[in-house]
Formats: sequence, C-alpha cells, structure tokens
Amino acid sequence: MASSVSDLRLPTRVPGPSDAFPIAPDDETRDMLGRWHTAYGDLYCVPDARGGQPHWIVHDPRLVQQVLVRNSANYVKGMGLDRVRILLGNGIMVSEGDFWTRQRRLMQPAFRPRALADFGAMIFDENAALADRWQTLSERGESVDVAAHISELTLVIVLRSIFGRDYEALVTAGSNPFALLTDEPERNLRFAARFHRLTRVVDDIVERRLADPSGDFDFLGHMLAARTKAGETMSRRALVDEVMTLIVAGHETTASALAWAWYLLATHENVCARAQAEADAVDEAELRDSGTHASGGLDFIGHVISETLRLYPPGWLLSRRSVAADRFGAHEVPAGAQVFISPYVLHRHGDYWHDPQGFDPGRFERGDQPGHRFAYMPFAAGPRHCVGEHMALTEMRVHLAHMLRRFTPRYHGNAPPTMESHINLRPRDGIYLQLTPR
Ligand code: HEM
Repeated sequence: MASSVSDLRLPTRVPGPSDAFPIAPDDETRDMLGRWHTAYGDLYCVPDARGGQPHWIVHDPRLVQQVLVRNSANYVKGMGLDRVRILLGNGIMVSEGDFWTRQRRLMQPAFRPRALADFGAMIFDENAALADRWQTLSERGESVDVAAHISELTLVIVLRSIFGRDYEALVTAGSNPFALLTDEPERNLRFAARFHRLTRVVDDIVERRLADPSGDFDFLGHMLAARTKAGETMSRRALVDEVMTLIVAGHETTASALAWAWYLLATHENVCARAQAEADAVDEAELRDSGTHASGGLDFIGHVISETLRLYPPGWLLSRRSVAADRFGAHEVPAGAQVFISPYVLHRHGDYWHDPQGFDPGRFERGDQPGHRFAYMPFAAGPRHCVGEHMALTEMRVHLAHMLRRFTPRYHGNAPPTMESHINLRPRDGIYLQLTPR
C-alpha cells in the first residue's frame, strides 16, 4: 500500500523494551544486550533508568560505520567515561576536540611498526622468563593460572615499553608500585583512587626525564620528543595523563585477549597442533624479530588471535554521545543521545558469521564469511580506533608462538571460564591449565 506524504513525516516508532534499564559495563548489561538483540534486532532504544533520553543500541554494521567513521565528528565518547576519567585524567582515551586531535597526532608516531621494532627483544626476553617459570610449575605437576601470569607479563611489557631503563628504577627501589593492577581484581572507585595516587610516581619520572632527556626511544622518550607543526611539546600534565592511559589501555586488554586465547587453544586440540607446527617452523632469532614484522610467518597464529578477539573482544562495549541530531534510517536521533555499540554482540551476529558461537580461526584464512567490515571491530574503527593495535597484535603473536613451542595446554574445567564484563571482558576466576612441556 502506498503511504501518503503525511505518513512519511510521522516518526517511526523505534522498537525496544518498555522498562528502563541502567546500561553500564557489567554482566547484567551484556546479558540484556544479547536478549534485546534477539527480540528487537539491530537498532532499538532502551528507556534510561535515570529518566533521561532513551539510549540507542546499534548493531547494524552500516549504522556502526556511520557513528564511528562517516559521521564520527558528530559523536563524543559517551556514558561510563567519567569513571575512566578518574583513572586517566585527560589522556587520549577520554579527551575530545582539538586537544584530543593534537595529542593523538603527537602520540601516533610512537606506535608505528618501525618505532615498535625497538621493543622486539624485550618482549621476547620477558616471554622467555615466563616460559622458564611455567616449566618449573609444570614439572611439579601444578596447574597454572595463565590469566594471572599473563596479566603480570603484559604489565611488565607495557611498563618497560613506556619507561625503558627507568623501569628498573621503578621496581628496584622497592616493589613494583603498579602491581596494584594485577593484584587488585576490583575496578571500583577505591581502586581508581589508589591507582590515581600513582600519578605521583609517574610525575617524578616525567620530571626527571624532562630535565635530562636521555634520547631513549621508549614511549615516554617518543612523547618527550614529539612536536606539533608549530614546535610545541606536550605539557608535563599531558605527559603524565598519557602515560597513565597507556598503562591502563595497554595492559589488561592484551592480558584478557591472551588468557582467552589459551583457553580456546587448550580446548581445541587440532587448532593448537596447527599453531604449534607453525611456531616450531620459526627459528628463535626469527621469532625475536618476527614481532616487528606485519606477518612474521605466523599467519595461522594471527588467525587464532583474530578469532579469539571475535569471541572475546576485551573492549566489548563502546559508548558515544551525539553532539547534534543525526538520522538512523527512518529514525531521528536527537542531540545528546547516548549510543551504545557492542563488539561482543556484533562479533556473534548470525547474519554476518557462520556458526557464530564456534571457535574457527580458519574462517579468517578462508575469507568465506558473509561478513561486513563493520561487523568485526575488536580495536573499534574510525578516528578513535585503538592506537596500540599493532603493538597488541605483535605482543600476542610473539607470546603465543614462544609458549606453544614449549608447552601443550589442557583445560580440565567442567565448564568454560566465567566472563566478567567490566570495562574489559576478562575471565572472572582466572584460567587454570595443565601445561605439558614438549
Ligand atoms: C588486545 C588488545 C587491545 C584491544 C582489544 C584494544 C581495544 C581498544 C578499543 C576497542 C579502543 C576504542 C575504545 C573506544 O572507542 O571507546 C581502544 C582505544 C585505545 N587503545 Fe587499545 N586495545 C588493545 C591494546 C592496546 C595497547 C597495547 C595500547 C597501548 C599500549 C592501547 C592503547 C589505546 C589507546 C591510547 C586508545 C584510545 C585511542 C583514542 O581514543 O584516540 N590499546 N583500544
């Protein structure tokens, strides 16, 4: 039936639940996002539990592209970022506008593959030390909480890549003050306050390095040397905020992804065997170096990582706020609307993935998915995409290749590890594996 002009002007009702719900980075929200997706599809609204405008939930890849890329200028970071701001000050994860543009431009060169090449040997050596530790534990017949060990590993790697030689001063002067990030499981306000106190430690190092720029090319060295076109440098305050940002953004995300990768490898013998064969074929010197190359001859391990990030994307919930009105198809989105996109939901979307719940790294090699570029985004997309993507992928590839050459993992749990959906999607109670030396 043809619709009249007046019909077309009527706002189309957006589907969605009638009951309000407090959307937040938590398990209840992740659970509800799955149910709502089944009930209402790719675009719906949820009444705000605090009485504000309804929240928009978007899982149509074309609209995701609109929010994050095509019309990204109309969106700023959304709800939940206030908590992150307590941790990170005004670092690039949370800053906006001209200040963000300037900081991102100053930071970005430090994350280019060539700049990251300096970290290759350090990443390799930290993994070698962890492999020896795992060897001792496995010879004693103990199972290993790989999630806890990898959390320590990625913390040391991110701290060493930021502080370089100053890392030694940081830990030899006593215990590692940042161990709080691995020892304290909660991510509440108390944690935020304790973490925030560490800005003093960072500020001391920044002050020293400003007085005596040693020419070290760790991340801090790059940031100290960075200049805008007009020759301006980062302020001391900005340097501290960006260092805090890199510690938080670079540590737990990579750790969670690797922990999930181990669980999946431990429960999929054939995949694990193929990844081991690939790792065995790379010689040690190459492996030290391979981290710095795009593929490094570890293609299949790369697919294991991609598939792990599909099933367990650490950044599982992205939030944005519209600055001015926008349109989602037939619907007008007002200014000030909160918009949520969940890579977790997108990555398990039945329209875009065959066997969406299954672990099949081969799907990335066959390229046979019905797919849509914006149905896969573990590192987000558009101007605010993850600046550390290459570093994370490198670190994960080197870690898995190194450890798979030495161990075969087995998981003896009766059920999959429970997910904990905070700012990161991490395993709630660790991941205990039996690691058999090869
Ligand atoms: C597997 C590992 C990682 C994953 C899955 C990941 C994921 C993400 C995602 C989804 C975002 C976008 C958040 C949003 O738009 O709201 C992001 C941003 C960011 N990530 Fe990562 N990340 C990882 C590792 C790293 C590492 C290793 C670093 C640095 C050492 C890093 C630094 C950052 C920073 C600074 C931002 C903010 C960028 C901006 O807004 O300009 N990330 N990451």
